[in-house]
Amino acid sequence: MFRLILLSCLISGIHSLAIHPRADQLEWTSLGDSYASGVGSTDYVDGGRCLRYNESYPILVNKDISTGDHIFNHAPCSGALHNEIAEWQLLDEKKNSGPNWQYGPRPAFGNPSFATLTAGGDDIDFPGIIFNCIVDVSLWFGGPTRRTCEDQRTYSWGRLQDPALVSNLTSLIQKIVEKGRSRPIGDKFKLYVTGYPKFFSAETRECDNVTFARSANPVDDGKEHPRMTLEVRQEFNNMSDTLNAAIRSAVSNNADKGVTFIDIEKDNFGDDALKGHRYCEPGVKEPDPKNTELYLWHYPYNDAKDDQSDPTVALLENSYNQVVGQLSAQDILNRWPNTVDMQNAMFDAVPENGIQDKATSTTAGWDSIGFRARVFHPQVAYHRFIRDRIFSQYNQDFPPTPCTSQSCCPSGCTCGPSGVPVCG
Ligand SMILES: *[C@@H]1O[C@H](CO)[C@@H](O)[C@H](O)[C@H]1NC(C)=O
Ligand SMILES: *[C@@H]1O[C@H](CO)[C@@H](O)[C@H](O)[C@H]1NC(C)=O
Ligand SMILES: *[C@@H]1O[C@H](CO)[C@@H](O)[C@H](O)[C@H]1NC(C)=O
Ligand SMILES: *[C@@H]1O[C@H](CO)[C@@H](O)[C@H](O)[C@H]1NC(C)=O
Repeated sequence: MFRLILLSCLISGIHSLAIHPRADQLEWTSLGDSYASGVGSTDYVDGGRCLRYNESYPILVNKDISTGDHIFNHAPCSGALHNEIAEWQLLDEKKNSGPNWQYGPRPAFGNPSFATLTAGGDDIDFPGIIFNCIVDVSLWFGGPTRRTCEDQRTYSWGRLQDPALVSNLTSLIQKIVEKGRSRPIGDKFKLYVTGYPKFFSAETRECDNVTFARSANPVDDGKEHPRMTLEVRQEFNNMSDTLNAAIRSAVSNNADKGVTFIDIEKDNFGDDALKGHRYCEPGVKEPDPKNTELYLWHYPYNDAKDDQSDPTVALLENSYNQVVGQLSAQDILNRWPNTVDMQNAMFDAVPENGIQDKATSTTAGWDSIGFRARVFHPQVAYHRFIRDRIFSQYNQDFPPTPCTSQSCCPSGCTCGPSGVPVCG
């Protein structure tokens, strides 16, 4: 009975689990890659090519911080490698751009009580897996370095199995903690590090003949494309697990320093929160961008905006051709071992008044990139879930002060005899 009450309290109170400011003024900072910038999650808001969207989990956390003045330093950037997070997201003073003009505002790290971080996906080149092995599309906006899927798998597994992955993430986390602890909050500073999801259901073979290739959807072009066989789905799921294991190791290497891994696949009871919400769920005819249960974005196959004559896309395509177009695949890899370096070279070739002048316009320009780059990123419902996971861990670390009156209880609850909210 008591457990039942607690359960219903947790369930009904889930959106009321807001962070209670512990000081007169709460300040916090969000860091990371496109999972934290929230690419594709409703509206593009700022950050130039950092692709920050307004229903990303950090912005949702910030909106739900319940009371009082607070300061929010929102620094994530789509495509950020661990070393770029260290270089561009732990700034003592805010910068308006960098590494080049396309990047937009870079907030300072500030004086946070806590920070959130999502990192590692770009270090193993998850985007390469998505575009080379799944969406199977050639570059037209400076996407990942083009490889055969087999080379891409070898490359990403090589990164995943390289011990440097854990040590790189360990040292990034260590830098963040050192920075955090050097601020007024001192060693009470907390860092919440989220993982990544497994993308596919691997329950049935229903998806075995399905391809997510851009040019095979919605109308099959009759060409050979990678199929989402059970084995392929299991392998890519295994990559997510292996990456999460590396992130967990990096977190536990810093465990005595207030760093916690947030598993974004588990609900508060330890159950698989993505069951029914991945690609290739039983009974779903994939690719189904209209599947309302799906927590991740599909490629916008059938959308009029997915058109290479879009002026921004044409601008980027032109820069790509100038910088990369004449080189062989091997030359490209030799010159820019990291995809991001190639993208930077390409973006450097975009005329400064090109994207900036356009479109009410910067917004439309960057959104036309984010609109495609969002594939395999969380939809709003999933960002909300990640928000709740962070709230729930925060409230475990800093339990809310016991209630003394009804007003401090989550809605639907009453203040019980020993100061515990009783709900339902
Ligand atoms: C952001 O998200 C909300 C939905 O919560 C939406 O209504 C709003 O118009 C969005 N856009 C901006 C630019 O804030
Ligand atoms: C680790 O970091 C170094 C320096 O930034 C980088 O050159 C290397 O590729 C990284 N390795 C992995 C596996 O992330
Ligand atoms: C996939 O295609 C093969 C051969 O074309 C066929 O035998 C098989 O039944 C198909 N499987 C599914 C799940 O549609
Ligand atoms: C991933 O695959 C490897 C090699 O096949 C295997 O040893 C490992 O147990 C798998 N990991 C998970 C988490 O499934």
